[in-house]
Amino acid sequence: TTQAPLDTDPTLDRDCTTLSRHVLQQLKSYDAAAQDLSAIMNRIALAGKLIARQLSRAGLMANVLGFTGETNVQGEDVKKMDVFANEVFIAVFKQSGLVCRLASEEMEKPYYIPENCPIGRYTLLYDPIDGSSNVDINLSVGSIFSIRQQEGDDLDGEAKDLLQAGRKQVAAGYILYGPSTMLVYSIGQGVHVFTLDPSLGEFILSTENLQIPTHGPVYSVNEGNFWEWDEPFREFTRYVHRHPGYTARYSGALVGDMHRILMQGGVFLYPGTVNKPEGKLRVLYESAPLAFLVEQAGGKASTGKEPLLDVTPTKLHARSPLVIGSPEDVALVESFVNRPQ
Ligand code: AHG
Ligand code: MN
Ligand code: MN
Ligand code: MN
Repeated sequence: TTQAPLDTDPTLDRDCTTLSRHVLQQLKSYDAAAQDLSAIMNRIALAGKLIARQLSRAGLMANVLGFTGETNVQGEDVKKMDVFANEVFIAVFKQSGLVCRLASEEMEKPYYIPENCPIGRYTLLYDPIDGSSNVDINLSVGSIFSIRQQEGDDLDGEAKDLLQAGRKQVAAGYILYGPSTMLVYSIGQGVHVFTLDPSLGEFILSTENLQIPTHGPVYSVNEGNFWEWDEPFREFTRYVHRHPGYTARYSGALVGDMHRILMQGGVFLYPGTVNKPEGKLRVLYESAPLAFLVEQAGGKASTGKEPLLDVTPTKLHARSPLVIGSPEDVALVESFVNRPQ
């Protein structure tokens, strides 16, 4: 006989649909691999809670806002929150036995966790704080993560096994530190949204099987770079300027701009420029995890020329142009890029 659903309090079962339970429900399996993935997502949720807490009281504490005075491997000025968040991900996965290597925007070389985690387990690639320029002005920022299966040996310490195309990701997602803290993830079975309930300290399932609209009104791009773009991207921008029904939204933080596009439809672009033909966004821990997610939600992601998930980076911090969002809007941008010049 099937058990009667919990009818004492209809929100009780909803409040118990935590991330770790949801992963097991998604996989319809409780074997070791499923348990590992469930535990990994739970650790990522812990990282999100620790970072959300730090951000929420940043204005009240010393040494949280502002710059460290260092520059990272990207040549960017590092924020104190970049370093804090980077260390949070390392701290939550140490002694976890789940992840044997972490690589991030803020680290020149991957961080190895040799103890109790033999090679062959999972690896985590992440952008600890995405949209750092928003931290000191209290606007939304995010964390982006990508989980892969570690394969091969890594004798020369160059972590070549991390240089895989995005299609090989096992799971990917982001945490959005906004008016509420949301964790959006996919393990290849659709896109699901969890909202942090601070009174519980738990991420609770708020939207299941999120689908991106096939078209949307938003185009999101930094038009300050207009004169540096290749002509097709200028043509696309002139087109949307002329055609009613489009609206520009750009926050300076990819995760926030992406979340709006995922919910309302439209397209986000970070084109290549004359000086930086590869654009600014990093493949392994920005574009590829978001491309995985958006394709799972029925959207598209490309460099303008080829599917983003087919890009195999040649180095850890490789960049690529990004066009991502609703299928119709991405196809429109691609139609300009692929026009015979
Ligand atoms: P990060 O803060 O992790 O370095 O990422 C910033 C990225 C991305 O979040 C955002 O879309 C883009 O930089 C904004 O770049 P511009 O200021 O050049 O528009
Ligand atoms: Mn950065
Ligand atoms: Mn980023
Ligand atoms: Mn970052």
